Amino acid sequence: MDKHALLYEGKAKRLYKTSDENLLIAEFKDDLTAFNAEKKGSELGKGALNNKISTQLFRMLETKGIATHLVKTLDDTHQLVKTCRIIPIEVVVRNIATGSLTKRLGIPDGTELPFTLVEFCYKDDALGDPLLNDEHCLILNLVKSESDLEELRRLGREINTILKSFFAHRDLILVDFKVEFGVDSEGNILLADEISPDSCRFWDVHTKEKLDKDRFRQGLGSVKVAYEEVLKRILAQ
Ligand code: TMP
Ligand code: ASP
Repeated sequence: MDKHALLYEGKAKRLYKTSDENLLIAEFKDDLTAFNAEKKGSELGKGALNNKISTQLFRMLETKGIATHLVKTLDDTHQLVKTCRIIPIEVVVRNIATGSLTKRLGIPDGTELPFTLVEFCYKDDALGDPLLNDEHCLILNLVKSESDLEELRRLGREINTILKSFFAHRDLILVDFKVEFGVDSEGNILLADEISPDSCRFWDVHTKEKLDKDRFRQGLGSVKVAYEEVLKRILAQ
């Protein structure tokens, strides 16, 4: 399967058309951005690591009944995915308070939340991905009905339950993550985009060391080493 016209270029991936309208090729880039691309960088091999990590996690989630857009890995930095219309809502799932939640509500960093929190953000870089409530989603026509939002929340929580336990077995605390969903030509909701250290926060259970993109956001260094460690633990049985 060859890459045809570039369909979309995001901060961390490019999407290409293929000869089959139902299939796209996703290319994982080495670029890193933070704070709505105010901070930019690049880490050689980061794209390949995220491709491997996301492929493993999507395959594992498929075995647990989560439908995803992933068809297969093509090479180090490319995967074949099903064409879908991305719902422009970033579904953020949080187990522990940190990042923007701490800044927004003053909950001390590292506080375990009394229950899993699901937030919606508008996938719109020009607006800085603002937080949305259900009524905002409906007014903006991001989904058809309240029940679509309930389904996104349910999927976010289910993915969290599966991933939290998967990572706990690998001595990693899943602090929070962001997922995106798409709708295929038959109207099915599919997990899309990626799940990687770019889109999750992982803390080592013993040392609380950050093993995710916060190393880049906060200038902590050893970004690639951290991503390699996450892949190593994912591959450990
Ligand atoms: P936040 O605390 O900055 O809102 O981030 C919450 C989670 O979402 C964290 O795991 C990082 C992830 N995330 C993305 O994947 N993309 C984004 O643009 C942002 C802001 C966060
Ligand atoms: N991905 C977002 C950006 O580039 C924000 C983040 O992940 O911190 O700007």
